Amino acid sequence: MKKMLFLGGTGFLGKNLLEAFVQAGEYECVVFDKQGFPAEAPAIFQEVPVCLGNFEDRDRLREVLQQHPAEVLVHLVSTTIPSSSNLDIALDIESNLVATVQLLDLARQYNIRKVVFLSSGGTVYGIPSSNPVSETAPTNPICSHGIVKLAAEKYLQLYRHLYGLEYLICRVSNPYGEYHHSPVQGLINVVLRRIVKGEEVVIWGDGSTIRDYIYVKDVADAIMKLVQNDAFNQVVNVGSGQGLSINQVLTLVQKELGSFPVRYERGRAFDVPALVLDCAKLRSLM
Ligand SMILES: NC(=O)c1ccc[n+]([C@@H]2O[C@H](COP(=O)([O-])OP(=O)(O)OC[C@H]3O[C@@H](n4cnc5c(N)ncnc54)[C@H](O)[C@@H]3O)[C@@H](O)[C@H]2O)c1
Repeated sequence: MKKMLFLGGTGFLGKNLLEAFVQAGEYECVVFDKQGFPAEAPAIFQEVPVCLGNFEDRDRLREVLQQHPAEVLVHLVSTTIPSSSNLDIALDIESNLVATVQLLDLARQYNIRKVVFLSSGGTVYGIPSSNPVSETAPTNPICSHGIVKLAAEKYLQLYRHLYGLEYLICRVSNPYGEYHHSPVQGLINVVLRRIVKGEEVVIWGDGSTIRDYIYVKDVADAIMKLVQNDAFNQVVNVGSGQGLSINQVLTLVQKELGSFPVRYERGRAFDVPALVLDCAKLRSLM
């Protein structure tokens, strides 16, 4: 059994990834997170040991790596989302970038061989000159979240160069589906939840913003296949490769659920107008 440690494993993507890896039956999975699984979480999660702790706490991480020697780390912790990251940029850098570099130092001390890093396909490229965007396109993020993700990617590549620590950088687009919980990030889930609660749907801008939406189980499946195929030392876009505007998403939801109230607010400076990932590399590696 390959031993894997999922940092941030009780979150949205974490639960979906864990479910895929546990069900595959070939992996011994352990989670490190500041919170455990909720009591109502499905039984599959109750079998997974959770080490509680703060990602920024180097001593606690050291203890966990000692107690649970792993071959592969899956790094899913993020203390910010794109919209919150510009509010306190120094905090974004300290809590994500500095903490990630500390993690990489510990990883090489404790003989971790591989790190899977969840990067942000929606923010590292900034405003692309054309779509779809391949992994080799220029990277000019317009929010701190994207800059910090990109810098973390560069440190992963440096640690590979200096110490041989292998990496898999997954630039994920806009996932939707099971175990989603954020009230603000993830358009499809947020819209559906507001409709169910009878609340108004709030859209930033005129709804023309185009994104690449992907079902979260497809993200989990793709990452598991990349790990199984040993596709390390790669930067890979993980998306559907198809663009939909917010208004197109709302129309699709309306077709299923009938009409609902929508309020349009002023657009936000950090929102890229259109971003669709070129996923040819992902397809070839899978
Ligand atoms: N959800 C998306 O739309 C999306 C898109 C692209 C990339 N990503 C990236 O994927 C990763 C997972 O995203 P998610 O949507 O599952 O987020 P999430 O917020 O649901 O999960 C993150 C987990 O990290 C834990 N965490 C946060 N700060 C911590 C700390 N200081 N110490 C210990 N644990 C801490 C949280 O408790 C949570 O369980 C993140 O790195 C995110 O940037 C997410």
